[in-house]
Amino acid sequence: MDRRTFLSWVGVGTLASSLPVVLAACTSSDSPEASSPEGSDTAESAAPATTADGFTEVGKLADLESNGSVVMEDFGGAPLLVIFNPDDKTKVVAFKNQCTHSQCPVDWNAEEGTLDCPCHGSKFKADGTVTNGPAKDSLPTYEAKVDGDAILVKAG
Ligand code: FES
Repeated sequence: MDRRTFLSWVGVGTLASSLPVVLAACTSSDSPEASSPEGSDTAESAAPATTADGFTEVGKLADLESNGSVVMEDFGGAPLLVIFNPDDKTKVVAFKNQCTHSQCPVDWNAEEGTLDCPCHGSKFKADGTVTNGPAKDSLPTYEAKVDGDAILVKAG
């Protein structure tokens, strides 16, 4: 093999080995052309929709009726718990689901009508006020409402 033929083969080999890299760069998901306008299967589309007045759908009434509560692991950086308002079952009450003692998530105790902390035994009424310590402060609540079958909560 002479020098010219050798250099020709090296050039073809270099081009062939870099082709996959070039193709990958052209089809990167960062490029606007690569993103789907529908976005139906992206993580962003899984985020709950927020209405113009700042409410976010966090669940369905059917789920609340069957489970007794609706829980969202991350609502604005903290867990969320929604229950029916015991005084008016057409309304809902939404809490930042972190016990005010040491931030354990509380559980809705439908039989007693209390929110119970499994960590150190604090109990809260259905409006969030403390009935048993060691927690001293009420559970923070969010503005919440029902619209059709949707449970809507407004981040505070
Ligand atoms: Fe709830 Fe301590 S974290 S009682």
